Amino acid sequence: MPLPRLVPDPTHLSPLPGRFTFDAATALKVTPGAEGAARLLRTLLGPATGLPLPARPDGSVVLALDPALTGLGEEGYGLTVGTGGVLLRAADPRGLLAGIQTLRQLLPVEALADEPVAGVAWTLPCVQITDTPRFPWRGSMLDVARRFRPVSYLRRYVDLLALHKLNVLHLHLTDDQGWRMPVAALPRLTEIGGEPHGGAYTRAELTGLVTYAAERGITVVPETEMPGHVRAALAAHPELGNTPGRAYDVWDRWGVCDTVLGVHDTAMDFCRTVLDEVMDVFPSPYVHIGGEECPTTEWHTSPDALRRVAEEGLSGPDALHGWFMGRIGEHLLRAGRRPLSWTENGADLPEYFTVMPWRDSDHGRTAVRRGHRVVMAPHRTTYLDYPQSTSPAEPPGQAGEVVDLRTVHGNDPAPADWSPEEAARVLGSQVQLWTEYVPTAAHAEYLTFPRLCALAEVVWTGRHDWPGFQERLRHHRTRLDALGVPRRLSTTATPVPHL
Ligand code: ACM
Repeated sequence: MPLPRLVPDPTHLSPLPGRFTFDAATALKVTPGAEGAARLLRTLLGPATGLPLPARPDGSVVLALDPALTGLGEEGYGLTVGTGGVLLRAADPRGLLAGIQTLRQLLPVEALADEPVAGVAWTLPCVQITDTPRFPWRGSMLDVARRFRPVSYLRRYVDLLALHKLNVLHLHLTDDQGWRMPVAALPRLTEIGGEPHGGAYTRAELTGLVTYAAERGITVVPETEMPGHVRAALAAHPELGNTPGRAYDVWDRWGVCDTVLGVHDTAMDFCRTVLDEVMDVFPSPYVHIGGEECPTTEWHTSPDALRRVAEEGLSGPDALHGWFMGRIGEHLLRAGRRPLSWTENGADLPEYFTVMPWRDSDHGRTAVRRGHRVVMAPHRTTYLDYPQSTSPAEPPGQAGEVVDLRTVHGNDPAPADWSPEEAARVLGSQVQLWTEYVPTAAHAEYLTFPRLCALAEVVWTGRHDWPGFQERLRHHRTRLDALGVPRRLSTTATPVPHL
């Protein structure tokens, strides 16, 4: 019996003889708590198959929530497909949502289409699967600050993540070149900061996105950058900066901008106001505050900053970064959230921060040894803005590295030589798409796939079966084709990436 080719690979999979067929008479038996999974199954299969899949007590497709199945954890599921019926079981609704994505991959690829497909039998191979993820954080970061993407696109992106059993969409909402996060008390942020190339989200769009993602088992983790990468905010509110009377533009260059937030009370109040709105919109336990690439040049000469150094008894202006992060981190803690930020070296933040090492994977080990919880995001294996091959046909991308499929697949979030205590502090890993060089949605998908599939494989399975992954990916690419993910990008159609 040929094995079904699934991405990510399930923990245990045994093929069984025969096939099951979904048809117009197929009904769902839905136990209490499994209603969301039933809705998702109808939503995902409806457009292509037209199947109504009504709920009936004698339905042959059973979606069962059973909290006693504790061995499956929060996101694991058991799936049995027999010739006479389907049984999907989990201890938590999120496990059922993961199982729905497996059912979807077991069906013919035509089931992924978003319009009716005629002449296809909706059959799937009989199989017994028990499946649990290795890591609880399986994510993808999308930079919507450098390039605004409408929320309609973010919904499509969420669907693509869910297909791969990822569970975190990390939205990079603000940066030097744009501010996309609405803050009711500070409308100029999006009026001025959202202006260049794009726009900003409304609160209703973001709360709608949060719900849409949750229905697919995905948490939206918001990131608003501070105290660096804030030039768009300074353009809207120059009083937040370090130089009274100076006017700022929303930055029109890439790189690290040396204008940063002041550390005076006006700037600290601003950060708390922004984060209170962020927490209102995003229920995510984790709230990302950026924190990286913050030159302290301005603080060395600002009278306000020097006064703060003296008042707080700090060693000098460079210590203001840690002071700032601590003050803001405590604000998030008081609100019951978990502060999250990039780390430059694994040792630059209070231990209660969850950190994302991005420069070097060794910084992850430094961080877990200090007691941090860690989400691995090392640029050499997870940054999708680097070209994926050395081919001259690749569109222009971030310079300095080539991050090919195998490199992403080789990302090992908790290497075997780390101690069990160190490994236990690794929540997982995620890919990042910075969008300086990514002018269109098609370009974003070209860069994201199939490399995101490799990340998904590693963080769900915890295994590095490269030949097996390649073999399954060959088939999986037909699923991506059915979903309209581009395999190629016309380089001639790619504008030169300047703002
Ligand atoms: C980063 O690449 N600025 C985290």
